[in-house]
Amino acid sequence: MSRDLPFVTLCILLHLSVLKAGNSSLARKTDEQRLLDALLTGYSSDTRPVYNASHAVKVSLGITLTQIFDVDEKNQVLTINVWLDQEWGDEKLIWDPAEYNGLEVMRIPCRKIWLPDIVLYNSASDHNEKYMDALAMVSHTGVVFWPPIVKFRSSCLMDVTYFPFDDQVCKLKLGSWAYTGLQVDVLNRSNTVDLSRFVENGEWELISTHAVRNNVYYTCCPEPFPDVTITLHIRRRTIYYIYNVIIPSIMLSSLALLGFWINPDSGEKVTLGLTVLLALSVFMLLIAENTPATSFYIPLLGVYLITTMSFTSISVICSVAVTNLHIRGYAHHVPTWLRTLLTCVSKVLCIKLKHITEQVPLSRPTYWYRVPQSSTFGNHVTSNGRVVHDLGEGTIISHDDIHQDGATPSDRLLKEDNSQVNHAILDTLKCLMNKQEETERENKIHDEWKEVAMVVDRLLFLVFVLGMITASVYILVVLPFQKLQRFDNS
Ligand SMILES: *[C@@H]1O[C@H](CO)[C@@H](O)[C@H](O)[C@H]1NC(C)=O
Repeated sequence: MSRDLPFVTLCILLHLSVLKAGNSSLARKTDEQRLLDALLTGYSSDTRPVYNASHAVKVSLGITLTQIFDVDEKNQVLTINVWLDQEWGDEKLIWDPAEYNGLEVMRIPCRKIWLPDIVLYNSASDHNEKYMDALAMVSHTGVVFWPPIVKFRSSCLMDVTYFPFDDQVCKLKLGSWAYTGLQVDVLNRSNTVDLSRFVENGEWELISTHAVRNNVYYTCCPEPFPDVTITLHIRRRTIYYIYNVIIPSIMLSSLALLGFWINPDSGEKVTLGLTVLLALSVFMLLIAENTPATSFYIPLLGVYLITTMSFTSISVICSVAVTNLHIRGYAHHVPTWLRTLLTCVSKVLCIKLKHITEQVPLSRPTYWYRVPQSSTFGNHVTSNGRVVHDLGEGTIISHDDIHQDGATPSDRLLKEDNSQVNHAILDTLKCLMNKQEETERENKIHDEWKEVAMVVDRLLFLVFVLGMITASVYILVVLPFQKLQRFDNS
C-alpha cells in the first residue's frame, strides 16, 4: 500500500498541471484584445473624449466624392455618394505601442467609441437612417479616423433658367448638430473635395468643388456653431437635348416656314402650320417633365419653344389671310399705291409679276377695235378671207370658223336686214359683250390679287425666316454664351 502512494501523488500532480496548462491557454489574450480591453475599460462612448471639459474636440471634415447619383430638378434634390472622412483626437485612446508588440493603429468598431454627431444640415432624406457601421482607425496618439460611406440627399435650389445649358451650384453644409463650437470644433481637411475615386456622370459634368469653414450663430444659443460648407459646381451635358429636342424643333419650325411656299389653292397651307404646332407642343410636354414645376424660372428651352410656337401660330394666321386674299380677292383693281409698292418689293425679292406691273386695263378687251369710217353696215369679207359682221356703232365681231353659206342663225337673221331684229341682236350681243367684259375684268382683278397674295407670302416668308434665325441664335447661342462667361468670371 505504502509503495503505491508516490504513484498516486504523481498522478494527481500530473493531472493538476494539465488542468493548469489548459486554464492558462484559455486566459491568454491577443495583443489587440488586450489593447481593446485596456482602452475600453471605463470608456464612455456618450461623453466627449477630453479630460478638461473646457477643451473642444477638433473634428476635421472632408468628403471623397465617388459619384453624382442623381440630380432631381423637380424636387430640387442632389443625391451623391461620398466617403465622409472624419478625424478627431480621442484623449482616452492613447497607448504605448511598445507594450503591444509595436501595435500602432487599431481598428475599433465605431459603436464602442465616441463619435461626433456630424450631419448634413440641408439633408432631404429621412433622418432616421444612420451612417454605416464602419470600423474606426485609431492611432496610438489618439487620432481617430472614421470614413463611413454615405449617400447624401441634399436639398439644393436648382436654377433652370438656362436649361438645358444650365449650371447648378449645390452646397452641402456639414457640422455637428448639437455640440457648439466650444465643444466640438469642425474644421475642413482641405479646400477641395477628394476626386480620386470619382465616377463621371452621364448627364452632369463636375466643374469645380471647394470647401469652406463657416462660423454661424443661431438664435438659440450665444455660442458659435461651426460648419464645413462644400460647394459642388456641376454643368449639364447638352448633347442629349441638342439631339432630342433642339434639332427636331428647329426642323419643325423650318417646316412651318415652308407653308408660305404652298399654293393657297392646295388648301394645305393652314394644315401644315397646325401640324407643326401640335408637334411642338409634344416637345413642350417633354421639357415640362424634366424641369421643376416652379414659377421662379422659365427654362431657356421653353422660351425657345414658345417663341417657335408663336412664330408658327402667327404664320398660320398669316396663311389664313393670304389664302383669303388669294381665293376671294376684292371687287376692285389693286390700288395704284399698292401696285407701286408691290412692284418695288417684287424687284427686291426677284419675283416676276405679270398682272400687277401692267397698267390698269382699258374698259374694253383688246380684241375689240373701232371699225374704219368707210366701212358700211352689213357683212363683208376682209382681205384675208374672214367673214366679218358689221354691227354698226363702230364695232365689229369676227369669226374665223363661220362658213360662207351662212349656217349660223345670227347670219340668217342678219340677212333679213330687219332693223328691229338687228336692234334686238345688237342688244343681246351688247349684253353678252358686257358680260364677257365683266368676266374678263373680274378674272383680271382676281389674277392681280393672286399676285398680291404671292408677293405677301414671299415677304412673310422672308420676315419669318429672319425672325426665326434671329430668335434661335439669340436664345440658343447668345444667351448660353453670356451665362458661360458669367460663370467663368465668378
Ligand atoms: C482646462 O482648460 C482651461 C482652458 O484651457 C484651463 O484654463 C484650465 O486650467 C484647465 N483645467 C485643468 C484642470 O487643467
